This record gives sequence, C-alpha cells and structure tokens, in this order.
Amino acid sequence: MNETQTDSALESARTHVQAAERIAVITGAGISAESGIPTFRDAQTGHWARFRPEDLASPQAYQQDPQMVWDWYAGRYRDVSAAQPNAGHAALAELERRKNGHPDGFFLATQNVDGLHQRAGSQQLVELHGNLTHARCEACQHLEPLPATDTFEPPPVCPQCGSRMRPNVVWFGEWLPPEALARAEEAFEAADLALVIGTSSLVQPAAGLALLTLESGGIVIEINPGVTPLSEWASVILRLRASQALPALLKGWA
Ligand code: OAD
Ligand code: ZN
Repeated sequence: MNETQTDSALESARTHVQAAERIAVITGAGISAESGIPTFRDAQTGHWARFRPEDLASPQAYQQDPQMVWDWYAGRYRDVSAAQPNAGHAALAELERRKNGHPDGFFLATQNVDGLHQRAGSQQLVELHGNLTHARCEACQHLEPLPATDTFEPPPVCPQCGSRMRPNVVWFGEWLPPEALARAEEAFEAADLALVIGTSSLVQPAAGLALLTLESGGIVIEINPGVTPLSEWASVILRLRASQALPALLKGWA
C-alpha cells in the first residue's frame, strides 16, 4: 500500500524526511525540467524523441563523427549555462544544510549532467553520468573545464598531453564511474530513507539504488508527476513537480 492522495502523502513525506537519520537522494532530468532543460523520454520535447541515443551519445558515434557529437554537446552546454536552478534544486541544497548536523545524514546522487545542483548550493554531490561542464582527455583522462563558448570546433585538445578530448559524460554502452557508483550504493544501502526525484527509473544501475534502501529495511519516497516502475515499491508517492514538492517538504520544520 502506498499513499498517493496528495495532502496526506505530503504530510507523511514531510514527517519521514524530517525524522530520517540518513537520507539518500537520486535525481533525474525531471528536476531540471522546470529550469527549461528537456528530459530524455518526454514524448514531445525529450532528447530521445528527436534523436536516437546511439547516433549521438555513444562511443561509436564519437568514433565516426566527433565533430557532430561535440556540436550537439555544445548546444546542450550553451542551454544549461543559460538556465537557472529552480526551487527544487534550492530545496535540496537546503535539505543538505539541515541534515548536515548528523554525520552521513545526507547524500545526493544525480544522473543529470547539467551542474544545476552545484549552482543551487549542493556541496556533496555524486555525478553518476558525468557532466557537461568538463572535457576529458581520451588518452590521459585529464579533466578540463570547458570555456563559455558557442562552439567546440575543432574538438578540444588536452593541455597536458595534446590528445583529443571528449565530453565528460557517460555514453550508452559505457560503465558508470566506479567510485561514484560505489559511493552511491553504499549510501543507499545505509539510508533509512531514499528520495527518488524526477527520474523515469528505467536506466540501470541508477534505477536500482532505491531498491537497496528497501532491501535494508528503509523506505522510498517518489516525487514524479508520472508513474514509473519504481512507483509500486514506493512507500509514499508525490505526484507533483519537483519544484512544488521539495519546498513543501521543508515547511514547518521543527
Ligand atoms: P527521463 O527523461 O527518462 O525521465 C524524466 C522523468 O522526470 C519522467 O519520469 C517524468 O515523469 C519526470 N518529470 C517530468 N517533469 C518533472 C518535474 N517537473 N518534476 C519531477 N519530475 C518530472 O530522465 P532520467 O530518468 O533522468 O543517461 O533519464 C535517465 C538517463 O537516461 C539520463 O541520465 C540519460 C538518459 O539516457 C545518459 O545519458 C547516460
Ligand atoms: Zn591528456
């Protein structure tokens, strides 16, 4: 049984969030939707409604046409640079501050590559899918912040070794950064509350993190206007936008 009636669900979620000793949060594209950044699977505006992932976000695509891939990332980088964090990002940064009195009280992992959590003030953040803000050397793995520019033509070159650099994101068919994933798994296993926000919960291994919390006896709260495969496992579901639900969770904090 889970609660979906919004008022009582909100009340129940608020109680759980305030009482939790260890919260682990995972976010997806939905939390940035209200900052004007398209999600991946939205039927009308999502990236994957317009492109096939394997044509743009795969090692094969990059091998075949690095400039085409860099052009696509240049556009996304320009869009996120112009976007602002919204009330949902801000509320998560505030939740971190409130939970920080307790060691390991708060953990945030994101599948997003847009850097909006950092810009909203989140301090501890694990980026499971990398980020748009850096390029990574194909040879020596050096990370270089991208300059504010409209184009990456030709593709950036590594200042350390002169090799070609690629976007610092995880592509289809690639592994997640092992250290980031290990930290996330540990945090979700240890958490008494998992908060799953704005993700379709379709892409592994991120989708499985909240199940680790459940398996170890914790509870799951889902914030998503739509139904996902995780919904049936969630103890509390808020069918609200992240920018509505997250600030509401912080209201009336003792
Ligand atoms: P998706 O596009 O798959 O899902 C976005 C989710 O956000 C959906 O479940 C929506 O219902 C929900 N949503 C939409 N607007 C919302 C709002 N205002 N507040 C809260 N939720 C809202 O995006 P992700 O789950 O993040 O991977 O996708 C996961 C991964 O798939 C991405 O990181 C990307 C993609 O392929 C890589 O590129 C490696
Ligand atoms: Zn290099």
